[in-house]
Amino acid sequence: MLIAIDGPAAAGKGTLAGRLAASLGLAHLDTGLLYRATAARLMRGKSNATSEQAATAAAQSLSAGDLEGSQLRGERLAGLASLIATYDSVRSALIDFQRDFAASPPRGAKGAVLDGRDICSVILPDADIKIFVTANAEVRAERRYQELRGRGVHSIRSVILREMQERDERDRRREVAPMVLAGDAFLLDTTNMDADAAFEAAYEFVMLHHIENGRSE
Ligand code: CDP
Repeated sequence: MLIAIDGPAAAGKGTLAGRLAASLGLAHLDTGLLYRATAARLMRGKSNATSEQAATAAAQSLSAGDLEGSQLRGERLAGLASLIATYDSVRSALIDFQRDFAASPPRGAKGAVLDGRDICSVILPDADIKIFVTANAEVRAERRYQELRGRGVHSIRSVILREMQERDERDRRREVAPMVLAGDAFLLDTTNMDADAAFEAAYEFVMLHHIENGRSE
């Protein structure tokens, strides 16, 4: 079973994807980490961090080990990640990693959940289940603020909101693989839902869809 989840920053994609994966025995890949890890490699290197060539080389040399570690979660990296995510050659370099993960999930899992921006549209257009998770921008900014606070990172709500909106705009407007609500995706607006309610709504959708597919086979 393949589940594709897209949506803007801090909409709760990662939490939802992780919980769906755990309850269905699937592997989970947060594809944002690929862009963040590429950005982290660039920041460590001496080259011009925003050059397409350097970013592509960094994306090509990523390995699974680069995706570990909480240092990838910072807002500064998110900014650079969102910039290099507009480069066609960076995105192309990361496609195989994502599709290989879905085709052969680690630890013998019987499928995978991938979350990101272009999973329903570009990476897994034939996924069994597609979900677009969103929430109003202020609510998402508050969630990110609380998440950072929980990790002991001091931040300013208004700055988080502004930077998040800039990234969302860039993700929506870019020419290559923009963030879109795929026509066949289930739209899950979590503005008034906590993580449990979002999980229950998505789980119910997965189960219903599964039953319907079973009937039509
Ligand atoms: O949730 P947040 O935006 O803070 O971060 P993320 O999901 O870890 O993604 C970081 C950045 O990577 C996003 O702003 C996108 O520009 C980019 N990204 C992408 O273009 N395509 C994906 N499948 C995942 C992330």
